[in-house]
Amino acid sequence: MAREKCVLAYSGGLDTSVCIQWLITQKNLDVITLLVNVGQEDADLEFSRKKALNCGAIESIVLDVRDEFADDMCVKAIAANGLYENKYPLLSALSRPLISRHLVRVAQEYGAKYVAHGCTGKGNDQVRFEVAVQALDPELKVIAPVRVWDLHTRPEEIAFAEAHGIPVEAKKGKLYSIDDNLWGRAIECGMLEDPWNEPPADIWRMTSDAADCPDTPTDVIVGFAGGKPVSIDGEALSVREIIEKLDEIAGSNGYGRLDQIENRLVGIKSRECYEVPGGLALITAHKALEDLCVERDLLHFKLYAEHKWAELVYYGLWYSPLKMALDEFFAASQKSVNGEVRLRFLKGTCTVIGRRSETSLYDYNLATYEEGDTFNRDSAAGFIEQWGLPSKVWARSRKASGVEGQI
Ligand code: ARG
Repeated sequence: MAREKCVLAYSGGLDTSVCIQWLITQKNLDVITLLVNVGQEDADLEFSRKKALNCGAIESIVLDVRDEFADDMCVKAIAANGLYENKYPLLSALSRPLISRHLVRVAQEYGAKYVAHGCTGKGNDQVRFEVAVQALDPELKVIAPVRVWDLHTRPEEIAFAEAHGIPVEAKKGKLYSIDDNLWGRAIECGMLEDPWNEPPADIWRMTSDAADCPDTPTDVIVGFAGGKPVSIDGEALSVREIIEKLDEIAGSNGYGRLDQIENRLVGIKSRECYEVPGGLALITAHKALEDLCVERDLLHFKLYAEHKWAELVYYGLWYSPLKMALDEFFAASQKSVNGEVRLRFLKGTCTVIGRRSETSLYDYNLATYEEGDTFNRDSAAGFIEQWGLPSKVWARSRKASGVEGQI
């Protein structure tokens, strides 16, 4: 009888290579590997494709989804100014739903009943994969070999790999756990697990040390249409190209490093370092343009919604109804977000130094303290009287009760 099939999200690294043999030998499954290129650095995709076959996969698929990642996930993250806990630009949380989308599609195409991933049991990524898969195809079963196998230590895993003829490239053991994609890079574990330790210089790949960066500023104009980045210095580019170009400019000026403690969904506080030069620059520019173009109440309400959106995405709920409805709300809010923002990069900083828009709500004649002022100052006194009326009534009542100034 033909064996059941399993589609494995494959990275080319040791864990997911061992997963192939584990699924074959422990679960009696035929394994199809899927390596999704979301823009990870250093990925020798052809090498990894062959490696999966050498490790026993019956089929090894490599998929370039960098533009889809940019046009779907990154565009939505920009519209939402997506920052979990107001600081983490969600890079891993953005890639998992896209990898899951393709895992499910390939599983359906091959008639596979199972999908698998190589996440451990302590992180957020396992949650994101599994919740996304459930949302996209509730009949598929997810296997998480690394969470259940009894290869508890690195040496045990290497011994299993060697016993099954799996090539082990780096025997020394990894220094850090790294996840990266077009939006940025996450670095954790190793000596970073002591939050007092300064991140060593060698963890950074996309950003230079600010102290070594040029003393002269680099200015860039980012163009947006409907909240989406569309150009750099007037040149029309795809979202992916814009991110890549800004990564280069921001990174070489030392901008985009983060070192922070964050609250994982699974209840752990963890120390995380990130590099998101282009992404953070885009969010900075986007916010500046929204300030100019989005009506006050809409902007204020959006700030609450952004917080919720980032939390939902971090928690693995990309395909949940609330998250998707918020995307539609943000899309509506972005219709007026058109124009250009001038960014200045200098020694680790990114500063907005100008913004302009044809759909701007900024009215010079209302704002000016110079000649040409059209603001009706006469209405200010009446407005303030009524605005402050509840406070006045309350204060009088407090005074009458002899508890003046107390709540
Ligand atoms: N803490 C981040 C998150 O949960 C980054 C995770 C990075 N993943 C990894 N396998 N190193 O989104």
